[in-house]
Amino acid sequence: MKFIKKNAIALLIIVLISTGVYFSYQAYKGTDLSRIPVQVKKTSAQNPYKEAPNSSRITNKGVEQLKVYPSIQKGMRTPFDLWNYYGKGDSSFGSPNLPMRFEQWVDFNKKQKPKLMADVDAYMNGRFNFDSRAIPGQFMSGGRKPIMAGPVTRLPRGIDSFETLADLAPEEIKKRDLFPFKPLAHPIQSTAHMVFPDSWVAIHPQHKRLDVDMDIPEDYLPEFPPPLFLTTHKELGDVTGGQEITLDNFFEMFDGIISPEQMEGLKELLRPTPTTWFNHTSHRITEEPSQGVACLDCHVNGHTNGAFELAPDSRPNMARLRVDTPTMRGNYNLMLLSSKRSIRSMDHFAEVEEYFDGDPGMQQSIGPRAAKREVTNRMGDFNSIIDYPPAPKLNPLMRLIPGKATESELRGEAVFHGKGQCDKCHYGPAFTDDYMHDLQVERFYVGRPEGPIKTFPLRGIKDSPPYLHDGRLPTLADAVEFFNIVLTLKLTKQEKEDLVNYLLAL
Ligand code: HEC
Ligand code: HEC
Repeated sequence: MKFIKKNAIALLIIVLISTGVYFSYQAYKGTDLSRIPVQVKKTSAQNPYKEAPNSSRITNKGVEQLKVYPSIQKGMRTPFDLWNYYGKGDSSFGSPNLPMRFEQWVDFNKKQKPKLMADVDAYMNGRFNFDSRAIPGQFMSGGRKPIMAGPVTRLPRGIDSFETLADLAPEEIKKRDLFPFKPLAHPIQSTAHMVFPDSWVAIHPQHKRLDVDMDIPEDYLPEFPPPLFLTTHKELGDVTGGQEITLDNFFEMFDGIISPEQMEGLKELLRPTPTTWFNHTSHRITEEPSQGVACLDCHVNGHTNGAFELAPDSRPNMARLRVDTPTMRGNYNLMLLSSKRSIRSMDHFAEVEEYFDGDPGMQQSIGPRAAKREVTNRMGDFNSIIDYPPAPKLNPLMRLIPGKATESELRGEAVFHGKGQCDKCHYGPAFTDDYMHDLQVERFYVGRPEGPIKTFPLRGIKDSPPYLHDGRLPTLADAVEFFNIVLTLKLTKQEKEDLVNYLLAL
């Protein structure tokens, strides 16, 4: 009896002590003292991550020559030749957490950046000869920025001209690995997201990234700020007076020429909201927190500044195609929006946007944009009055007016509708058929097929370099060389020159 009593007292004491410890721990857990960070073990000076073993469970289905995507963390460097890879990722879902403490994240990215950018420059200069040679007398629609001459894509070793290359059969080009127009990856595809041009970042320092900068030289990007033309006020020409439209000046600029609905839509297009990596949380790629990004931060003045990101439509991140910002000009005429997602209306586009990389979970944790239907409709309302720049040499049927066009432009038009077969896909008021086509570019190199892509319009095309969804074609001359090979057209040097001159007139 005495024995039991003694033990019961001991038991009671133990229970009391444990309860005490438990409650003091609960109280302590909520305090700053409990937030002493756990150190991430450094595994190498360059990269604190260990190379993760490949965890993809996919089996190789007849694509022996391709490698399976490595399994990696945010911030880790990714191969520039991602076309060589394929397969499944670890998960479709993103996490709002960084793989390390924020201060370490800043440190890690700052340390990685110089080497990454040196490698990016070497890679880009290996692919392109960016000599900043302009076409004499040719300027973008604002009249300020010269248009670059090309092609600037470097020829493969042992090939002396694009004509020699175009004479080879697709199988031969593939077998000898001679195709110079392979896809362009985002320099850091694990973190990915928006990369803004240097000219933009200079006046919008909130968009300066810790990890990566623009990889295409300024000369090969659209003019900044670009002019804005309205379908409703052609007589006014560029309504911006050469300024960037901002939340501070839009009202004055547009009061009295657009409707109240369009005015509200424009305001929303200018209002920054949080994105996956530009926001007020620590899941960010900028040193300071920010309010985020606005539609017109990429589609500046309803056009584009050449900012690029990844298409939100696939996973893993490494399988997502790089896409450069298309213009909003003439969107009113398009039935198909974005390269792959086949979005059917501009208001729908304003709702889905790629702010959270197509990941609604990230949106919930970082702060939803929560754009209501009536608001996105009004954003669409403004979008739908953004016009193409003037093309004074074209008649209502989108044919050159002989008295106004040069001989070369007229010959180029004939090639466009004849031997070049461009009009099979590029026709109508916007020079697009509004379909997606699979150009089957992988016939020319060993690589994962990119699949069908929307026919981007050619009206006003001189204003929106670089070309193709990922901007792999820095000039119109590169675009012509690309289609000459991909469509096996065997155009002569003269025909290609004429075609470029024609495209400049659209
Ligand atoms: C990173 C800069 C960026 C921001 C910010 C941005 N866009 Fe875009 N936009 C893009 C890119 C890149 C594409 C091409 C996507 C694709 O091809 O899949 C695109 C495509 C579009 C298109 C389709 C154009 C076409 O020709 O197919 C529309 C419309 C559009 N954006 C509207 C918006 C609206 C509305 C917002 C704001 C809610 C917005 N964008 C914000 C970069 C941006
Ligand atoms: C089979 C349909 C088809 C034909 C024929 C065709 N194109 Fe295209 N064009 C496309 C598609 C699809 C794209 C977008 C491809 C991409 O982004 O990957 C495109 C894109 C372009 C672009 C880039 C547009 C931009 O905004 O970046 C240019 C320039 C162009 N085409 C010119 C031509 C010329 C010149 C010809 C004739 C020599 C031609 N195309 C023939 C389907 C076609």
